[in-house]
Amino acid sequence: MHVLHAQDVAAFVHDQRNKETVRFITCGSIDDGKSTLIGRLLFESKAIFDDQLQSLRTESRQYGTQGERVELALLVDGLQAEREQGITIDVAYRFFATDRRRYIVADTPGHEQYTRNMATGASTADLAVILVDARKGVLTQTRRHSRIAAMMGIPHVLLAVTKMDLVGFDEPAFDAIADEYRAFAAGLGFTSIQAIPLSGLDGDNVLRTSARMPWYAGPSLMDYLDAVDLREVREEGRFRMPVQWVSRPSLDFRGFCGRVATGSVRPGDAVRVLPSGVQTRVKAVLSGFAEVEVARAGDAITLTLADEIDTSRGDVLAAAEAPPEVADQFEASLLWMAASPMTPGRHYLMKLGCREVTAKVTAIKFREDVNSGARLAARTLALNEIARVNLSTAAPLVFEPYRVSRTLGGFILIDKLTYQTVGAGMIEFALRRASNIHWQALELNKATRAAQKNQTPRCIWFTGLSGSGKSTIANQLEKLLLAEGRHTYLLDGDNVRHGLNRDLGFTEADRVENIRRVAEVARLMIDAGLIVLVSFISPFRSERAMARDLFAESEFVEVFVDTPIEECERRDVKGLYAKARRGELKNFTGIDSPYEPPEAPEIHVRTCEGGPGDWAERILKTIG
Ligand code: ADX
Repeated sequence: MHVLHAQDVAAFVHDQRNKETVRFITCGSIDDGKSTLIGRLLFESKAIFDDQLQSLRTESRQYGTQGERVELALLVDGLQAEREQGITIDVAYRFFATDRRRYIVADTPGHEQYTRNMATGASTADLAVILVDARKGVLTQTRRHSRIAAMMGIPHVLLAVTKMDLVGFDEPAFDAIADEYRAFAAGLGFTSIQAIPLSGLDGDNVLRTSARMPWYAGPSLMDYLDAVDLREVREEGRFRMPVQWVSRPSLDFRGFCGRVATGSVRPGDAVRVLPSGVQTRVKAVLSGFAEVEVARAGDAITLTLADEIDTSRGDVLAAAEAPPEVADQFEASLLWMAASPMTPGRHYLMKLGCREVTAKVTAIKFREDVNSGARLAARTLALNEIARVNLSTAAPLVFEPYRVSRTLGGFILIDKLTYQTVGAGMIEFALRRASNIHWQALELNKATRAAQKNQTPRCIWFTGLSGSGKSTIANQLEKLLLAEGRHTYLLDGDNVRHGLNRDLGFTEADRVENIRRVAEVARLMIDAGLIVLVSFISPFRSERAMARDLFAESEFVEVFVDTPIEECERRDVKGLYAKARRGELKNFTGIDSPYEPPEAPEIHVRTCEGGPGDWAERILKTIG
């Protein structure tokens, strides 16, 4: 192994620092010859192999140049953005360099289901290398990856037609693929598309143009990478920096740390803190511990401000005269990346810039066919589907349209229970509708209404299988409450489905909406000062969590009516289990639709340990 010396390390670091960084993603499957091609690139260029990294680390420690971190950071600093997004997806990053540029490749696994890995790398990429096997041509997967690349704003496409050796280096074969692809991609808005015929196996057209394809007049892969014009990719625009954290090493220093998303900043600049809108001036711009005259897009810096201003993680510092918008309703493009479907109304965690808020899709405007681009109607989104949606967030967000800023316009959706990344999206623009509806401040409120009734309002939420005994217990409990002079109301699934929710069936999407509506109704009733009993199967954890979120902590009492399915089926009061078993009733809870039992209900009713009357008494005692 080549051993690096201190001078080498210093020279290497100096060398690399002055090079332009190109980030690209590779899309295609192993069968397309991807690993061979990447292997070639790494092998034939000045790749930074793991062992070199190791020796770099050892050497820099040994010779104490600038400390271990500095050198490593130099190589991987490009990854900071992905790390900050907190995406825990398995994308392999590889590094190599030519004399002109250094490269970061997000090498994403090529199976269909892994578009999410692709989307991860795509949010910061300058270029997409889309691989097509010369024998197979343009496939659905090729189109899907291209659409995602376009949607995520990657400007340049390199169409790598691989395995040319297996088609006898045939020019017409290459032309046909390149033409078909160009025709398909014409409407996607890429700045440039370069098709290159390759053979990764022998390195034809990888580093140098190949004598075996004399008919090809374009650049080799490496020459293309070294020459592709990146100027417009770099984010320009006005100064914006999401605050990642507030640094307070001592009482007299307060710095706001983050990465400049767009524009530049200098000491003395007037800035505004959003969403509060408070204005001040930049006192100093620090890079590391050194004060600098200017910081530009991509720089990680610390700012100190002229005034003591209340700013925290997730706020955005912006040029005072042209601040970004703040909104809570958006139209966005969305790529769904989870096996379980995206259901409108369901609550997800949305991460944008350094902010996390609860968000839900309020409507799917259309789903896009990945092959034809046709706009299709959709009620839910399945894995790998792309759609245009309306999105509503629980708190206002500082944002920019994605085409203006990838940092402030790109977001991910996270499942609240599993913490998995389930969607990647791009804000198109804000919808203003919601901001015109103001909450009407009324003179009388929940407290006055509750006081008049001499009670504490509560939502007692019964969940359990059909036939578990929810309604029977709820009914008994309501009678006991009434006897004590309380003011109550019982919302029962079967009854509400006859009126307010008569338009809803039993698909996942309909059940989500069913629960959303009844939870909102319960909230209004609580506001009216009532004790509300809700008896709905409410099979999904996330909707019960959503319902819980609508109430104050002590107001919501989740009662899990736990009856084994065998017992519910044996009773089968309404004959529905029998019907479901015969296949006459679809999506029946517990049979062909899931029931997710509560993990920590306030009250766990084991119906085999007592009759409905006993349980009603016990619940009454618990809620007081
Ligand atoms: S929920 O799942 O959306 O919460 P809800 O409590 O409103 O369900 O309604 C359940 C009632 O609808 C059941 O008690 C049963 O009488 C009836 N029902 C009809 N079809 C189904 C089905 N496919 N799954 C469950 N319940 C059904």
